[in-house]
Amino acid sequence: MRLRKVARASVNTPRLIAAAAREVRRADPLGAVVASVYQIIGATAALGVVAAGKLTFDALLQPEDAALGITPSLLLLALATALSGSVGPLQTQQHRLLGERVSQRVWDRLLDTTARADLVTYESAGFATSLERIQQNALTRPFAVTTSLLGLTGSLLGVVTLSAVLIGVEPLLVPILLAAGLPAVLLSRWASRTEFAFAHRLTPFARRRNYLRQLLTQRPYAAELRAFDSAGRLREKHAELNHEVNAGLRGQVRHRQLIAALTTLGVAAALTGALLAIVALVRQGRIGLPEAGAAAIAVRLLSGQLNTLFTSIGGLFESAPFLADLERFVASVPPAAPRGRKRTLTEGIALCDVTFRYPGQERPAVDGVDIRIGAGEVVALVGENGSGKTTLAKIAAGLYAPDTGSRRWDGAVVPAADVRASVTVIFQDFVRYQLTLRENIVISDGYRDEADLEDAAKRAGLLAATRELPDGLDTMLGRDLDEGVDLSGGQWQRVALARALYRDTGLVVLDEPAASLDPRAEYELFADVRAMLGGRAALLISHRFSSTRLADRIYVLDGGRVVECGTHDELMSRAGQYAELYTLQSAAYR
Ligand SMILES: Nc1ncnc2c1ncn2[C@@H]1O[C@H](COP(=O)(O)OP(=O)(O)O)[C@@H](O)[C@H]1O
Ligand SMILES: [Mg+2]
Repeated sequence: MRLRKVARASVNTPRLIAAAAREVRRADPLGAVVASVYQIIGATAALGVVAAGKLTFDALLQPEDAALGITPSLLLLALATALSGSVGPLQTQQHRLLGERVSQRVWDRLLDTTARADLVTYESAGFATSLERIQQNALTRPFAVTTSLLGLTGSLLGVVTLSAVLIGVEPLLVPILLAAGLPAVLLSRWASRTEFAFAHRLTPFARRRNYLRQLLTQRPYAAELRAFDSAGRLREKHAELNHEVNAGLRGQVRHRQLIAALTTLGVAAALTGALLAIVALVRQGRIGLPEAGAAAIAVRLLSGQLNTLFTSIGGLFESAPFLADLERFVASVPPAAPRGRKRTLTEGIALCDVTFRYPGQERPAVDGVDIRIGAGEVVALVGENGSGKTTLAKIAAGLYAPDTGSRRWDGAVVPAADVRASVTVIFQDFVRYQLTLRENIVISDGYRDEADLEDAAKRAGLLAATRELPDGLDTMLGRDLDEGVDLSGGQWQRVALARALYRDTGLVVLDEPAASLDPRAEYELFADVRAMLGGRAALLISHRFSSTRLADRIYVLDGGRVVECGTHDELMSRAGQYAELYTLQSAAYR
C-alpha cells in the first residue's frame, strides 16, 4: 500500500511539474527565461562560495606569505557570497511579475469557461460552489505554483552541482543527505491531501460568509438593512461562520505544523550526519582540512538547497489538486456552441408541447405548453407568481432547451444559438450596468450609429429624461462605482427597454416590463405598444392584466400549464380564470 503510494507519487511528480512548467511558460515566455537565468546565476554563485572557501582554507594553511595569499581568496569568497545572497531578493521581485501573469492566464481560462457555460449549467447543484472554490484559489495558487516551480528548478540545479563537489570529496556524503528527502516528499504528499480536503470542507462556509459580507457592505442592501436595523443580526450569523472557519483552520494548522516540524527534523538529522561523517573522514586522515572546510560549506549550502527543493515539491503537491480542480472545471463545461446566426422572423415562433424541469426539481416549471407568436404579433402571457412565465420566456429566447417538445422558428427546429441571436429578452431582474447611459443601451448589440441609438431611446420614452442628465447619453449611471447618477426604478426600466429595442430582432420578450412604472407611465407604454415595437413581434409577460388586454392573443398560465387562450374579449365572455382575475384586479382600482 505504502509502496504503491510512493510509486504513484514518483510517477505523477514529473507529469505534475511538466504541467505546471507549461502553464508558466505559456503565461509569460520571456519572464520564464529571465527567471531561469537567475536560477543559473544562483547555482553558479553557490559553487563559487565552495571554491572560494577551499582556496581560503588552502591559503590559511600555507605558512609563508599567508597575509598576501589569503586576500584574493577572501575577496572571491566575499564576491560569491554577495552574488549568491542578492540573487534571492532579485528573484522574489521577478516572481511577482511572473506570478501575476500566471494568475491572469488562470483567470482567462476561468472566464472563458463561465462565458461558454449555458444558463442551465448555472442552475445545477455544485456549480456555484466549485466556481467559488476555484475563484478563491485562482488568486493565490498560481503564484504558489510559480514560486514552487522556480524554487524547484533553482534548488535542483544547486543540488546537482553541490552534490558533484561533495562526490569529489566523499561519495558517501550525498546519499546521507538525500536520505532526508524521501520522508519529506511523502510528508508533503500527505499535507497536500489534507489541504485540499480542508478547502473542500471550508468552501460552503466561506461562501455564506462572503454573501453576508456583501450584504453588510454593499450599497444596494444599505437601505433595507438600516430600515430593519438588521445589521446586528446578520453580524451574529457572520460571527458563527467565523467560528466555524476558525475551528477548521486550527485543526488544519496543527496538522501542517506537525508536518513542517517532521520535515525540518529530517533535514537537520541528515545535515548533522553529514557533518559527523566529515569529522570522521578528517580523523582517519582520508581528507585534508581544506577539503573538509569546503565540504562543510557545501553540506551547509546543500542542506539549504534541499530544504528549498522539498518545500517546492511540497508546494507543487499542495497546489496540484487545485490545478486539477481547475482542469476538471474547465473540462466539465462543454465546448461553446458555434456563434448563432441572426434569423428574420417571417412566419412566427412556436413552442410545441414543451416541458421543462429545473435541475434537481421534482415538478416541471413548464408542463406541456403550446404557444405561438406570429411575426409582428403582440402576444401576452399572464399568470400568477410562480406560474412559469419567466421560465417560458427563457425557453422562447433559446436560453433553456425544452426537456420534451420542440421550439420551432418559422416551422423548423433551429440551433438554440440562432434563437438567442434572433430574440431579444429583457428580464424582470434586468441588469443595471454601472456604465454610461449610451453603453447601457448599445451593450445589447454593439455601437452602430447615433440614429439607431436615439431611435431606441425615443421608443422607450427616454428622450426627456436624457435631456435632463448632466452629460446626456454619456452620463454615468448608478452609484456603485465612481460618481454616477442614479435613476428611479421606472427610468431604469426604460433604459432596459431601450436596450431591448436597440437590438433589432424579429421578436422581443418583455418580462414584466412595467413592474416599476407608475400607472400613467404603464398606460402610455401599452397604449401605443405597437408603435413602440415598430413591427417586431412581442411576448409580453405580466401579472398585471391591464397592460396586456390589447394583445392579439393572451395565454393564461397556471402551475406551468396553459389553462386558457384567446383575445381579451373572448376570454372575458368565457368567464373563466382570466375573467375572474381580471375582474378582481380592476375592482381593486375602482
Ligand atoms: N432557478 C430555478 N431553480 C429551480 N426552480 C426554479 C428556478 N426558477 C424558477 N423556479 C421555479 O419554477 C416555477 C416557475 O417560476 P417562474 O418561471 O419564475 O414563474 P413566474 O415568472 O411566472 O413568476 C416556480 O415554481 C419557481 O419556484
Ligand atoms: Mg417571473
